[in-house]
Amino acid sequence: MTSESLPHYDVIIIGAGAAGLMCAATAGYRGRRVLVLDHANRPGKKILMSGGGRCNFTNLNSTPANFLSDNPHFCISALKRYTPQDFLDLVERHGVAYEEKAPGQLFCRDSARDIVSLLLTECEWAGAEIRMKTDVQAIRDDGDGYRLTTGAGALRCSALVIATGGLSIPTMGATGFGYDVARQFGLAVRPTRAGLVPFTLHPELKAHLAPLSGISCPVEVSCRGQRFREPMLVTHRGLSGPAMLQISSYWHPGDALNLNLVPSRQPRDDLATLRREKPQATVEQYLARRLPRRFAQAFAELQGWRGPLQGYRNADLERVAEALSQWTVKPAGTEGYRTAEVTLGGVDTRQLSSKTMAVLDRPNLFFIGEVVDVTGHLGGHNFQWAWASGVAAGQAV
Ligand code: FDA
Repeated sequence: MTSESLPHYDVIIIGAGAAGLMCAATAGYRGRRVLVLDHANRPGKKILMSGGGRCNFTNLNSTPANFLSDNPHFCISALKRYTPQDFLDLVERHGVAYEEKAPGQLFCRDSARDIVSLLLTECEWAGAEIRMKTDVQAIRDDGDGYRLTTGAGALRCSALVIATGGLSIPTMGATGFGYDVARQFGLAVRPTRAGLVPFTLHPELKAHLAPLSGISCPVEVSCRGQRFREPMLVTHRGLSGPAMLQISSYWHPGDALNLNLVPSRQPRDDLATLRREKPQATVEQYLARRLPRRFAQAFAELQGWRGPLQGYRNADLERVAEALSQWTVKPAGTEGYRTAEVTLGGVDTRQLSSKTMAVLDRPNLFFIGEVVDVTGHLGGHNFQWAWASGVAAGQAV
């Protein structure tokens, strides 16, 4: 078949996830003939599993400071032009019930399925076609666009959008496809690693904490100059919960984490007062007022804090206070892409237009969503990036 006789689309988008579907609807409404291809059996699989099945679809307080990238200014333009309120307006137009679970964090009240239905409805209204269970085997520049070899035959398009996401959760269909396409066309890819991911621990600490699995306590964790005050969850494999997921995006192998278990207190002063007023009280009792009892018990045991406070000298209290406010934990590693919510790194943004997401010297090739080196904090920021970058490309293709 000659190239001219192949089915031709104005835009082919590879990846029917959050960014790809948003881009498809935006381009479709502009009158473009759009086809979305995906190898999975259903669209928006990660949306369905997100937010514990309720999809934290945006964060009203999202700012560029909530994103990690080797080129931190890149995300500003797209985020400014498509805001959390814009997505919320869309959610409200579709009558999706939602709630604010934590300040700014908006979740579906019923199910993440509502967000997938919203996107599929938008694509249908915009006339964008979606073809699932379709592999893309090869992409070739054919002069005035691209020729794709796919499981459903050869196809042509004038503009190609790569929206294949990152490497996290391979069982959900995640692949390094987008990075391969970037390299094929001479783009640099920043090193990738798992982000928003639980930590694993070395055997000794793991054995000590494992019986506390399921216990959550508020902490302030810091690493590499970043600090998060959120709950930490002990799991049978290590440490998780929002505090640990957030800091994991900044952590590098070999780094230690600094944990403050009594973030809003002055433990040295508290303990001195308690020793004066109740000399028979123990450090464990002090801790149990602020942390779950079993955690307080295990932590006091781990540190070897025994006996009443009257037996502690001032220097001992200093040491206890330091251990409470600067508990140093050196993780063995992370659980990796198997459970990570996101992939850090990706297509180097210095080669993309921050306005359109197009490759600077190849204006008909676009990269959007998680495949790009822009990664959000926990709390709805990653979807906001998917929506914003999808709309930016959808307005330009
Ligand atoms: P996404 O991964 O959504 O879509 C990529 C698509 O490309 C998939 O449909 C995939 O099948 C397809 N694909 C991949 N390789 C392909 C190939 N070779 N050929 C064809 N198709 C291919 N974020 C947030 O803001 N709030 C939240 O509540 C959560 N919760 C959450 C929970 C869990 C468990 C995970 C794993 C992740 C989250 N996230 C999140 C992150 C969020 O899901 C993620 O950032 C976005 O889905 C990224 O959107 P993309 O469209 O870029 O990729």
